Amino acid sequence: MEFDKVIISRKSIRSFQNKEIPEEVLNDIMEAARLSPSFQNRQCWQFVVVQNKNIIKDLALRSGMISKVNFFIKDAPVVIIACADPAKSGTMNKQNYYLVDTAIAFQQMMLSAWNYGIGSCWLAAFNEQKVREILNIPPNIRVVALSPFGYPKEKETLYGKTVKMFAQSKKRNDLNKIVCYDKWNL
Ligand SMILES: Cc1cc2nc3c(=O)[nH]c(=O)nc-3n(C[C@H](O)[C@H](O)[C@H](O)COP(=O)(O)O)c2cc1C
Repeated sequence: MEFDKVIISRKSIRSFQNKEIPEEVLNDIMEAARLSPSFQNRQCWQFVVVQNKNIIKDLALRSGMISKVNFFIKDAPVVIIACADPAKSGTMNKQNYYLVDTAIAFQQMMLSAWNYGIGSCWLAAFNEQKVREILNIPPNIRVVALSPFGYPKEKETLYGKTVKMFAQSKKRNDLNKIVCYDKWNL
């Protein structure tokens, strides 16, 4: 896909076909993370790639911040947990760059995946303690985000449609609301 097409067409995907992701494609997606920029190039990110169906089911059932909000990930062939060691990144202007580093890397993975026709959905509504428990993540490592990865189903589920409506997912602010030139004028 042309790069601008990847950016323009990308959207969050919440229903997945029962189709595996080829190993070489998954490797390319992980490579997109590895090549990401980071605070002083410290590369504080680490990823857990879950393909074991029982563990995916466990995450689907128990990782949600409330109730079964993450239940839809049960059908994804891969769930990736983006983690970081904050001690390996840094802080400037009271901003913790481990979050920025890991977010950039995860987004690069999502765009790389979309280029292969693979959808994902950034998930923040998880219970970090539960995710740690399920995956044996040590206490010094923060769980920044998780996402299912898989080929989108043609038809969206009612859950997907509802979340999109709630979040008004198609809506974006006009450029003149978010950009000013030379001096602050917003
Ligand atoms: C930081 C962040 C947290 C998000 N958390 C969730 C989440 O917990 N559950 C969910 O279904 N979608 C989540 N999303 C997806 C957003 O709802 C989605 O990106 C937004 O509505 C725009 O839709 P689009 O990605 O289809 O363009 C999150 C996205 C971001 C960037």
